[in-house]
Amino acid sequence: MGRAFVYVILGGGVAAGYAALEFVRLGISHGELCIISEETVAPYERPALSKGFLLPEDPARLPSFHTCVGANEERLTPKWYREHGIELVLGTKVKSADVRRKTLLTATGETISYKILIIATGARALKIEEFGVRGSDAENVCYLRNLADASRLVDVMHSCTGGNAVVIGGGYIGMECTAALVKHRIKVTWVFPEKHCMGRLFTPKIAAFYEDYYKSRGVNFIKGTVLASFENDSGGKVTAVVLKDGRRLPADMVVVGIGIRANTGLFEGQLNIEKGGIKVNGRMQTSNSSVYAVGDVAAFPVKLFGNDIRRLEHVDSARKTAKHAVAAIMAPQKTGDLDYLPFFYSRVFTLSWQFYGDNVGEVAHYGDFSSGRFGAYWVDRDRMVGAFLESGSREEYEAIAEAVRLKVTVKDMTQLERDGLEFAFQI
Ligand code: FDA
Ligand code: NAD
Repeated sequence: MGRAFVYVILGGGVAAGYAALEFVRLGISHGELCIISEETVAPYERPALSKGFLLPEDPARLPSFHTCVGANEERLTPKWYREHGIELVLGTKVKSADVRRKTLLTATGETISYKILIIATGARALKIEEFGVRGSDAENVCYLRNLADASRLVDVMHSCTGGNAVVIGGGYIGMECTAALVKHRIKVTWVFPEKHCMGRLFTPKIAAFYEDYYKSRGVNFIKGTVLASFENDSGGKVTAVVLKDGRRLPADMVVVGIGIRANTGLFEGQLNIEKGGIKVNGRMQTSNSSVYAVGDVAAFPVKLFGNDIRRLEHVDSARKTAKHAVAAIMAPQKTGDLDYLPFFYSRVFTLSWQFYGDNVGEVAHYGDFSSGRFGAYWVDRDRMVGAFLESGSREEYEAIAEAVRLKVTVKDMTQLERDGLEFAFQI
């Protein structure tokens, strides 16, 4: 049994949705494109799962957040794919791939062949079992990567109002889910091994601002330790979390966010892998010229950082790498190497920040941390390489992004601290 397409996108997440829109814009014919996804719904804006989807009142639900609404573009419902002759093969996992034969084998036993393949398999959440702790399958232990996880998290939250949650992991999932749990009137203890939250990005001073805010909302912090085991009731439900430092925390539910691994498995041994992702060139093309990789799974050269290969785990990069791959496929003469400025953001409670570039080198903090109007610049070898701002306006975010894009020269860090946002507006 088999079907053949000109273009196949493997994975039906953020990157797949933006790639589909770009294919239509650049002019594909009906029946040429197929998207295969393990998920049972058409591509959607994954960031909504830890924000609007978790709101206690008026939560976001599909079809409202199908791609590409996150970039203020068209909302691609299943009807849109039908109208454009794009085959959506949903609820279907690809079990193996053969890039020499240009075929994919699905779990249902179908062989799908392609002329050009775009790998957009994203990533999976790391499980506590990978760190030697058992218990992920308990009904009140939640992860958050896809719609099914988010729906389950909502059900568990609803059954725990007024109770206790333990959040494991000090990154994005920990930070955004803690805020959601608090809004559901659940008391949170947030546990992570580092000295402060969001260790991959925040400086201690930036983290202290958000941690103080969280404390003011009743969140309890336990730092410098990790989960050792769970205590369960006779039904298998977790009743307490035991930490490596010996502490025991009663828990009605647990949320785990301890990082991800890119879904490269189908292609290991067939394509070049670097930095945990599928290595691509500036046109998103892998070591096999008929195969492209985009989004969380792709490790691509970032011009701004001297073509250093990076694998980014953020939605803006998924959107832009996907569009770029399609442009490289459909308009090869007109498409050069991607020139990407890394962009990350988050929203929690009434707070909201954006970050551009790279967080290496010396840091200059600016603004007023006590009033929540602050930011930071990162300067490496006298050039501005990164910028962070909490509660900025559109113009302010554009200004700091531009300062990083231009890698402006910085001679005096003390003056930079004093100038703060003005520095970016003077460029
Ligand atoms: P994505 O994970 O979106 O999609 C991969 C798809 O491939 C999935 O549909 C999966 O089922 C499918 N797949 C994988 N293997 C398969 C196989 N073998 N067969 C078939 N299908 C397969 N970023 C940001 O910048 N700001 C934010 O606020 C957030 N917020 C956020 C919240 C939550 C809850 C998560 C989990 C993530 C974020 N992110 C984020 C990160 C952002 O969502 C992420 O970078 C993009 O979703 C990556 O898009 P991809 O398309 O690469 O992978
Ligand atoms: P993360 O990489 O942001 O954070 C992982 C955290 O896990 C670390 O900070 C550390 O505290 C913790 N950790 C690591 N090993 C541990 C261990 N053995 N025991 C306990 N804790 C441990 O990953 P995440 O928070 O799981 O987020 C998953 C993915 O979702 C990431 O790719 C992230 O970029 C994405 N995401 C992004 C956003 C956003 O950009 N606003 C929001 C949500 C999710």
